[in-house]
Amino acid sequence: MISQGPETNPRLFTFVGGTTGLWTVTDVKAVIGESLAVTERLDIINGSVSVPPDGSKWILRGATSNERYATRSEKDLMVAKQTALGRPKATCAALIPIRKNPQWWSLTQDERRTIFEDRSRHVQIGLRYLPAVARRLHHCRDLEESEPFDFVTLFDYAPSDSAAFEEMVAELRASEEWKFVEREVDIRMNRDWD
Ligand code: HEM
Repeated sequence: MISQGPETNPRLFTFVGGTTGLWTVTDVKAVIGESLAVTERLDIINGSVSVPPDGSKWILRGATSNERYATRSEKDLMVAKQTALGRPKATCAALIPIRKNPQWWSLTQDERRTIFEDRSRHVQIGLRYLPAVARRLHHCRDLEESEPFDFVTLFDYAPSDSAAFEEMVAELRASEEWKFVEREVDIRMNRDWD
């Protein structure tokens, strides 16, 4: 379901907004800051892409990584409930790239955790939507080339869970954590295989 690039790092993913790929883009919305160009389709490639494919308007990259904030009990709760991306019924997806501001990055890990969870309840909110929503978090800050976003978040869900997904993003965006978000684009897609 995803194409394999030439790189060997299995944690690296490339997201190409263009005219190819299995996801049909239905909406591109700037939530905070500058948007990305509207494209017809999104291709998700496990690996790197050396030459931008014909018709591509933007390319984002990110790598999955170890957790930074989740505690053991939070992680256990998530592992017990979560499912992987790509379930046949999950024909809706959201790709939400996010950049946080320099103030966020100047905080220490414990200060960030306090805002992220103790004050914003990110994991507590998210847990309520598992397993309806499947997720994968990609980090972009420490890649070789500088990237326009710090994170690329990817979610899929069944059409019947669309309202729940909207409720979750609204709740997260109203939290203190989001005061540190300086750019966010919300790209929605439908899948037309299966
Ligand atoms: C499906 C429900 C969700 C769950 C269970 C969830 C859970 C988590 C967890 C556990 C982390 C921290 C990982 C770590 O310890 O490093 C995290 C980070 C993150 N999540 Fe979510 N999340 C959910 C939904 C969302 C949504 C809808 C968005 C975007 C609108 C989002 C954006 C992010 C971002 C940007 C980070 C990185 C934060 C940072 O490191 O500063 N999450 N999420």
